[in-house]
Amino acid sequence: MAILVTGGAGFIGSHTCVELLNAGYEVVVLDNLSNASEISLDRIKELTGKDLKFYKTDIRDREGLEKIFTSESIDSVIHFAGLKAVGESVEKPWEYYENNISGSLILFDVMRKHGVKNIIFSSSSTVYGTPEEVPVTEQTPKGTCTNPYGWTKWMLEQILSDMQKADNEWNVILLRYFNPIGAHKSGRMGEDPNGIPNNLMPYITQVAVGKLPRLGVFGDDYDTPDGTGVRDYIHVVDLADGHVKALSQIKKNCGLKIYNLGTGKGYSVLEIVKNFEEATGVNIPYDIKPRRAGDIAANYADASLAKEELGWEAKYGIKEMCEDSWRWQKNNPNGYSE
Ligand code: NAD
Ligand code: WQD
Repeated sequence: MAILVTGGAGFIGSHTCVELLNAGYEVVVLDNLSNASEISLDRIKELTGKDLKFYKTDIRDREGLEKIFTSESIDSVIHFAGLKAVGESVEKPWEYYENNISGSLILFDVMRKHGVKNIIFSSSSTVYGTPEEVPVTEQTPKGTCTNPYGWTKWMLEQILSDMQKADNEWNVILLRYFNPIGAHKSGRMGEDPNGIPNNLMPYITQVAVGKLPRLGVFGDDYDTPDGTGVRDYIHVVDLADGHVKALSQIKKNCGLKIYNLGTGKGYSVLEIVKNFEEATGVNIPYDIKPRRAGDIAANYADASLAKEELGWEAKYGIKEMCEDSWRWQKNNPNGYSE
């Protein structure tokens, strides 16, 4: 029996495929390559010495999905596929709702028609909106999202929860990721954003490698110890391992489960810059800029439920996250497109 990994050629998906193959799972990847390179799949094979099946398919393509579910023995689905650029989602809301929501509805429908009712879904800490208190637990109420991307996660959580409630043959695990950074230790796999990065760590590594001149720090007047935004950064390999642990939970017929995946520790933007400089010896020049629309002061996880129920906790600290992000960027200044 195989695990279908939608979006498996992307940043988190590719790292998860490595951990799944290492744990002995058979892996089938579906990706339309809209934000990924097929080279990541070669790297997965290179790093694990194992093979996987790849379908260049879109989750909105019902016939394409039918073909996969007919030809493969799929046991569970890990659903990463989706568009994820926050700013772009404000410009193109229809495209985000259509890709993420319509696509997922088609996927869920084909799954149930084939009797595959086990799913792990990539959700996000963004569903908490602007939390009144940090750290956030899974009991913290979902909030008001500041952008269509966030709402797609919010709504897909609701859709999967309602489907599970109506049909308890479904096992649904919603994983709320905090801020994934880092890369595979080998320096062969990592994050490969299109154009100028929106997220902090890829921006820093592109400044470090000389592709961008200076980092802009978005706001230094938040109610945080140094005034810059605080987030819970989590190593992508730890995140990948969280999915392997979640699969064991799915096999116990867990019903609906929700877990925060974070380290539980918040770092400010300036602390990230300092840690990056210390870990790599590379100086990151920066300027303080106005706040970015939609940003919140602080968000970090209480990840104790994942520890209790999945036996999962983050192993890697900020030093390794910085070192590994940097090794990937330095060895692959243009990502996968060399
Ligand atoms: P990514 O863009 O690297 O991976 C997403 C993959 O999905 C890409 O390979 C893309 O080509 C594919 N894809 C997009 N639309 C598709 C479609 N219609 N059909 C088939 N494939 C499609 O992003 P990532 O950082 O690896 O994120 C993976 C998942 O985790 C996403 O759902 C994202 O929203 C979620 N997430 C990411 C973060 C983060 O900061 N990276 C945080 C929380 C949640
Ligand atoms: C982190 C901090 C910025 C860039 C986003 C999504 C969220 C989730 C993770 C998918 C903030 C500051 C950033 C820069 C900066 N993704 N910053 N200069 O905003 O916490 O979360 O990615 O689900 O939904 O919203 O991450 O990396 O963009 O920002 O000062 O050039 O770094 O203001 O405080 P964010 P980020």
